[in-house]
Amino acid sequence: MEGANKRLSAHFEGKTRFLDDLERPDNMLYGYIYGSPVAHGKIKSIDFSEALGCEGIYAIISHKDIPGKNSMGAVFEDEPVLAKDIVEFYGEAILLIAAKSRECAKRAMERIKIVIEELHPVLECEESFKLKNFPFAPLHIESGDIEKGFSQSDHIIEGELNIGGQEHFYLETHAALAKPNADGTLHVISSTQNPTENQLIIAEALKLDSSKIEVSVNAIGGGFGGKETQSNWCAVWSALLAVKCSKPVKMVLDRREDMLITGKRHSAHVKYRVGFTKNGLIKAYSSTFLFDTGFSADLSRAIMERCMLHLDNCYYIPALKSDLYPCKTNRPSNTAFRGFGAPQGIAVIEHIMDEIANVADIDALLVRRRNFYRKSTRNRTPYGQLFRDNIFEKLYRDHLNSSDYFNRKREIRKFNKDNRYLKRALSAVPVKFGISFTTSFLNQGAALVNLYKDGSLTIHQGGVEMGQGLYDKMVSVASSEFGIKREAVRIYPVNTMIIPNTSATAASTGSDINGHAIKLAIERLKKRLNEFASKVYGFDKESVVWDNSELFEKGNPAKRYPLEEFVRKAYLARISLSEQAFYSTPGIFFDRELSRGTPFFYYVTGICSTEVEVDMLTGAHKILRADILHDAGESLDWEIDRGQIEGAYIQSAGWVTMEELVYNLKGVLITASPDSYKIPGIADIPEDFRVTAFSGNPFREGILGSRAIGEPPFIYGLSVWLAIKDALKSYRGGGFRFDLPATKERIVKCAYRYE
Ligand code: MTE
Ligand code: HPA
Ligand code: MOS
Repeated sequence: MEGANKRLSAHFEGKTRFLDDLERPDNMLYGYIYGSPVAHGKIKSIDFSEALGCEGIYAIISHKDIPGKNSMGAVFEDEPVLAKDIVEFYGEAILLIAAKSRECAKRAMERIKIVIEELHPVLECEESFKLKNFPFAPLHIESGDIEKGFSQSDHIIEGELNIGGQEHFYLETHAALAKPNADGTLHVISSTQNPTENQLIIAEALKLDSSKIEVSVNAIGGGFGGKETQSNWCAVWSALLAVKCSKPVKMVLDRREDMLITGKRHSAHVKYRVGFTKNGLIKAYSSTFLFDTGFSADLSRAIMERCMLHLDNCYYIPALKSDLYPCKTNRPSNTAFRGFGAPQGIAVIEHIMDEIANVADIDALLVRRRNFYRKSTRNRTPYGQLFRDNIFEKLYRDHLNSSDYFNRKREIRKFNKDNRYLKRALSAVPVKFGISFTTSFLNQGAALVNLYKDGSLTIHQGGVEMGQGLYDKMVSVASSEFGIKREAVRIYPVNTMIIPNTSATAASTGSDINGHAIKLAIERLKKRLNEFASKVYGFDKESVVWDNSELFEKGNPAKRYPLEEFVRKAYLARISLSEQAFYSTPGIFFDRELSRGTPFFYYVTGICSTEVEVDMLTGAHKILRADILHDAGESLDWEIDRGQIEGAYIQSAGWVTMEELVYNLKGVLITASPDSYKIPGIADIPEDFRVTAFSGNPFREGILGSRAIGEPPFIYGLSVWLAIKDALKSYRGGGFRFDLPATKERIVKCAYRYE
């Protein structure tokens, strides 16, 4: 990473300090969980009296020790802080232990006596579906005349698909450190994407006002959605123990614990039916999704909603119908993960595109292009939002040229003819990703800017830095909007006492909502200071130019005044040097009952193609080349954005090829460590990786003309899966189901028709 004063450059040198790297107060204790030994059961009795007497044990608490509400669910109250009568997944917290060390806690745990009557665990969503175990009402969308659509079709295909889950594998596991203050208030440092929600849940559990709970966040070592709600857990657990012991308590889940008990990307089982013309034009598409929510609702409803709003991806579907069922199982509660339901929805329609190409015998990219949204007709989504700023035709052409698509396809055909067991394929996947929380009220941000007497500036805002480069971007916004040197701007760690009522840093909205708030605050502050500048320097107040920590009057750039000198004068004249502002995304709404509205402020679009080589004897694959053309608008920082695109692509490639969650019959995750759960490594990066920014979309409403970047590129990874599917097609013929992930085992089985 180039450029001085960028936080991420220091980060890459290993200088970021995560929670567990912070100084430890002398009297600090460590918090541990005593979790359920079964996936489903009735708690008959708990006895920890003997354990309490063990050396180094300061407290053991159960649900009875919670002064307030025994609930830490984000949306629904279906997640107890500590289990009371029943346990609903393996590892669910029953007791918390405050100890001097892990060894002490371990010894104490051996002396805890809990009697549990084991109950039948529901582990598959098909079973849950039959039992109608829905934690909330299923979702439904319908638009156009579905029967007519099918009757107008030349072909109808039906299929099923299993889509696997995904472990977040953030480098920093869940962690929190709670410090009680002498006045009865509490300071919690948390590894969270959602400090305000941590604050609220802690306050409710402790029966204290939120104003007494300060939650602050240093940079966190990745969240990827996993810390949007489930960071509540360590935050509230450490807070309970800290208050009980009147000592600071830190909790850090070890990797195994984190993998065993926290939620993942939702796995889903899908049935679909699609009707299309001889030319491959879709007339009707219907589907049923069973989502495995795990033991509680968590964010599942919003996640399924985003899935529902991305069933179309980039394609106009004149008649669409879908039912999405939330299926409760006795597994950890599945949660937000980069893409937030959209990847599951888009996987299905992209799988369908390839099936259509196979039946209609047309190149799969041409089928996609034929179905693209258009500009003046065929431009309304199934939920009623008009798709503006449609650049797909341009993206398609540019990508075709730069990736040399058809020539390479020809070469691949030749390669496949000459090679018996090695097969190559090239697949393209476009994306249209809606930007905004679909829960409309969350689309708000606030900021506070403080100018100091020496001309330096601090910015406070509500977005969490999790490696996505938000802080560097916010500093860029402040420095360019203010006209102040980058070095003179400091962004302060997020703190609920300074910026209250924040939304999670999620839905890729971090830079938009917080950046806009910073921009507004600066505009207000400058308006006041411009008036003062007109007084002291005789400038016309409409013509004050702020540039690189200096002021001058437009038309006279030679006569410059240092910002420091000016600010000191303003201070002496008793002019406020602070300003705060609030931003709420305009024009968005969504009606949950009708599944209609304009939920998104805008869409992020792009296209990616991937060439793979697959060994049909071993199932091993290599990504030979990937080309991505992505509309990043006027990127605030292309280095960061390119990193987000590459990272999302690789993370997604892991999801669709190698990451497999395996549970045993008792509902215990047996792939709960990096040696059995494989995420992509350095060798899995495409040998030839070309990422290009598309510019030519006039949309400029994102902060300073930029676009949200965090999640949309995750969709590109689907091209790896579909390229492998296409390679298989040239080996064994087309028209087959190809579940996610495409592990080596699945590839070989599919090649030899074992299923
Ligand atoms: N990049 C890194 N390095 N680490 C992360 O945890 N989270 C992703 C994405 N990129 C993540 C990341 C997810 S899920 C989201 S929603 C966005 O970043 C959140 O940040 P933003 O809104 O500032 O883009
Ligand atoms: N994305 C991410 N997180 C969310 C959303 C969303 O659309 N809605 C509620 N939480
Ligand atoms: Mo991202 S899944 O919205 O935290």
